[in-house]
Amino acid sequence: MTPGTHIPVLRDEAVALLAPRADGIYLDGTFGGGGYARAILNAAACTLFAIDRDAEAVSRGAALAAEFPGRLQILHGRIGDLLTLLSAAGVESLNGAVFDLGVSSYQLDDPARGFSFRHDGPLDMRMGSSETTAALLINTLSEPELADILYQFGEEKAARRVAAAIVSRRAARQFATTGDLAAVIRSVVRPDKSGIDPATRSFQALRIAVNEELADIAAALEQAAALLAPGGRLVVVSFHSLEDRIVKRFFAAASGRAPGVSRHDPAGLQTPARPEFRLLTGSPQSPTAAEIHANPRARSARLRAMERLAA
Ligand SMILES: C[S@@+](CC[C@H](N)C(=O)[O-])C[C@H]1O[C@@H](n2cnc3c(N)ncnc32)[C@H](O)[C@@H]1O
Repeated sequence: MTPGTHIPVLRDEAVALLAPRADGIYLDGTFGGGGYARAILNAAACTLFAIDRDAEAVSRGAALAAEFPGRLQILHGRIGDLLTLLSAAGVESLNGAVFDLGVSSYQLDDPARGFSFRHDGPLDMRMGSSETTAALLINTLSEPELADILYQFGEEKAARRVAAAIVSRRAARQFATTGDLAAVIRSVVRPDKSGIDPATRSFQALRIAVNEELADIAAALEQAAALLAPGGRLVVVSFHSLEDRIVKRFFAAASGRAPGVSRHDPAGLQTPARPEFRLLTGSPQSPTAAEIHANPRARSARLRAMERLAA
């Protein structure tokens, strides 16, 4: 792929499920390179609010906003704060919201951002301007804390071995670059049959920890669902099983497929409340073989959607 671009994944499927209509108000919670935003704005004469925690994505988006005068407003912040961000922009209700989770190719492919084990760069991995960098975590967390992160957020079976190797190496010299960390991981994790780089899972884990991604996703789903008007749709594309699990559980609870945890009825003993949503995707949609062939980053994407029922 051309460096400096992001190829949107499952864009047409996501926009078809969002089904924007003229005069509707929509949210693109993960603006990125604006691929989804452009498709939504082209699909109907609607108004779109977009969010990204990455200041570079927000400034890049100014050109797209200029192409659609008065129809696109890009807000800088985290999706976990979307209620506050939208309410400050005067939005009290939405006709649809879409999230295309994870990192963009702009972030992954820029060595200076420190996400990539393929190119050497500073060990950073911040999507936004949160205080913690990957270097800080790698150089200061205890061995059990590191092992926990690698296991929980990367599902790395060799988490303990990787954590031990990191702690032993940093006693001699602290980690500063992605290449340096990747080399230490590769020295203790064997490549498996999949051909995936042995550093992949550990890098995913660190990125999720640095950006506190999972907590933000859970909060964003809750807040976006609360803003949806009857008939309003929530569409989410996830890229790994940890993200998809959060989305799947949230959708199941909202559509009455699984008990939600209620403060008043924690054991779920009473009759469940009438579902507020209906699922639009029974099982999640995946990219076609042609999309995966054209854009291998699409391979693990999963799309789920649901719609708010009439009151
Ligand atoms: C996969 S890209 C989205 C690409 C976009 N759909 C497109 O077509 O260009 C994800 C974007 O969401 C942003 N992002 C991820 N998690 C976020 C969060 N918790 N809060 C705000 N922005 C987030 C990232 O900074 C990145 O720019």
